[in-house]
Amino acid sequence: MSAKLFIYHASDVIVRPFETLLSEEGICLREIIPSAFEELRSCEGLKLFLINDRFAEEMNKDVSDLIFCSDSSSAVICINGDQKQKGLKPGDEEKVFLYLKEPVNENELLKAIKSGFGYLHSKLECERLHSSLDVRTRELSSLNEIGIALSSEQDYDKLLELILSKSREITNCDAGSLYLLDNTKDTGNSLIFKLVQNDSLANLEFKEYALPLTRSSLAGYVALTGEFVNLDDAHNIPEDVDYTFNKAFDVKFNYRTKSMLVIPMKDHKNKTIGVLQLINRKKSKDVILTSDSVVEDEVISFDDKTFGLINSLASQAAVSIENSLLYQNIQNLFEGFVKASVLAIEQRDPSTCGHSERVSVLTVGLAEVVDRVSSGKYKDLNFSRDQLKEIRYAGLLHDFGKVGVRENVLVKADKLYPGELKYVRSRFDFIKKSMECKFLEKKLSIINDKKPDDYQKYFKEVDNELEGELQKLNSYLRSIEESNIPTILEDGLFNELKNIADNVYRDYSGEEHNYLTPYELNLLSIRKGTLDENERHEIESHVTHSYEFLKKIPWTKEFENVPDIAHAHHEKLNGSGYPLEINEEKIPIQSKMMAITDIYDALTAQDRPYKKAVPVEKALDIIGYEVKGNLVDSGLFDMFVKEKVYELVGEKG
Ligand SMILES: [Fe+2]
Ligand SMILES: [Fe+2]
Repeated sequence: MSAKLFIYHASDVIVRPFETLLSEEGICLREIIPSAFEELRSCEGLKLFLINDRFAEEMNKDVSDLIFCSDSSSAVICINGDQKQKGLKPGDEEKVFLYLKEPVNENELLKAIKSGFGYLHSKLECERLHSSLDVRTRELSSLNEIGIALSSEQDYDKLLELILSKSREITNCDAGSLYLLDNTKDTGNSLIFKLVQNDSLANLEFKEYALPLTRSSLAGYVALTGEFVNLDDAHNIPEDVDYTFNKAFDVKFNYRTKSMLVIPMKDHKNKTIGVLQLINRKKSKDVILTSDSVVEDEVISFDDKTFGLINSLASQAAVSIENSLLYQNIQNLFEGFVKASVLAIEQRDPSTCGHSERVSVLTVGLAEVVDRVSSGKYKDLNFSRDQLKEIRYAGLLHDFGKVGVRENVLVKADKLYPGELKYVRSRFDFIKKSMECKFLEKKLSIINDKKPDDYQKYFKEVDNELEGELQKLNSYLRSIEESNIPTILEDGLFNELKNIADNVYRDYSGEEHNYLTPYELNLLSIRKGTLDENERHEIESHVTHSYEFLKKIPWTKEFENVPDIAHAHHEKLNGSGYPLEINEEKIPIQSKMMAITDIYDALTAQDRPYKKAVPVEKALDIIGYEVKGNLVDSGLFDMFVKEKVYELVGEKG
């Protein structure tokens, strides 16, 4: 659309003779006189002022302001004798397009007028292009910002909210909804109505639901065809199309849906994964559509430019949704793998069932307390969501290395393995029987050597002696069985075991053996617990196995410390722990927390066959001793107790 052209001239600049000629070019002539000022002020066309030095000298400030205003739709041609206009203020000259020297001939003036309007046209076009470039740049920069926001949002639900709100923001829409295609149902494809936003209906309650995927609904049509639908008025849809507008929402909420843009969200393979529905594009963003008349005044249709923008955003949105789903799937996959690993540990040692989960819950709970605390040694220590998750994984997998420990060692309840104790018992049965044989032989010699009247007397002596021997053997066996239980071994019992072992018996072939083998004596002599030195090393090796296993997992940056946290869960502040034997400075804080929760759970667990669960109070006392011995961190333990973190895993003891 071309602008109207005006020449405003000083009265003594002679242009009237060209009036017809100029009129043919669509140029209107006006004289600069007070009665024309009103029209001049409101004139929206392109204006060329023709003035001379006489006019410039005489013009007052108001006239000068009108002519030399900063408006880019006007320019000034000055006619004088010196190429320099008298009476112009500094700055006004910039507005002068051309100086013409008097006398000006006809051709020269017409040429100047033509150039003047040509200049104004170019200037206007340039300005239009600038402003359009500005708008485009702003739009591109918003699109870019939206793209960055979409790609950095990892929370799936928040991402969908962001897609819809940004789509509405960039198009000035009052409302909108978002649908996703669901291909997972056995019953066939459906559309999930995921969310709705509406600026004019505050506190709109909405719950997602599935609707059948058919061409009769707008979203269904767009999802199935991959084509967009642009409606000027949703209540006035042509009759020859497949889709209809569902008025239920408008009726229920007393809302008036007018302009609508429904577009498919297509992934990188051009496959539609969802539908974006934008409703009521407004002239002004802040207007609330309170009535039909406001809708009539404020709501406008979607133009090509808006469509281009939203189409580009929809593609970015689709890719972000895909990425987010992929991320979620990877997360689920990994969670599943972690759970399966925990199951693998606990199946090997059912007595520790739930230990990994409890340690992870308690350690995360303690980390959350540390994160909140605002005074003391750890007041500046904070844990992000990812760091808490890292602790959770480390907790769940800290004992995974137990899969590398022999099962009988792992579940060893007594000092001797069950088969070994049985063997000792059988040996004692044999010794008893041998003893009985020996005494029967004694009775035979009595029959041979003594008179029948004395038999009973000697037999009684032999029986008493046998009884004494058998009692001694029974007492030995009781001591062995007593030593086999994992209580702290008293010195007396330890010496007795040595005496028992020193006794010898003959086997069937006459070969001599000790009552207990050196191996049995070694195991039964364990002072504390059930494990000998080698077995203890084997159990302790679970930490190294855990570390080696966790190191092989290609953790992402945010979880890269999982192996190191698990590696140090049996370290002690004074360096007496295992396997690294590192001290306070080198033990990761997460491992220090895990050390407390690990000990606590090991003490209070009710399902270990080889030891009774310790009541909560006593467990806390025991850890308190470890604090005094500079084995576990006092500040962390204080928080564990004060904030009752242990209650996170329920009642125990
Ligand atoms: Fe452990
Ligand atoms: Fe553990």
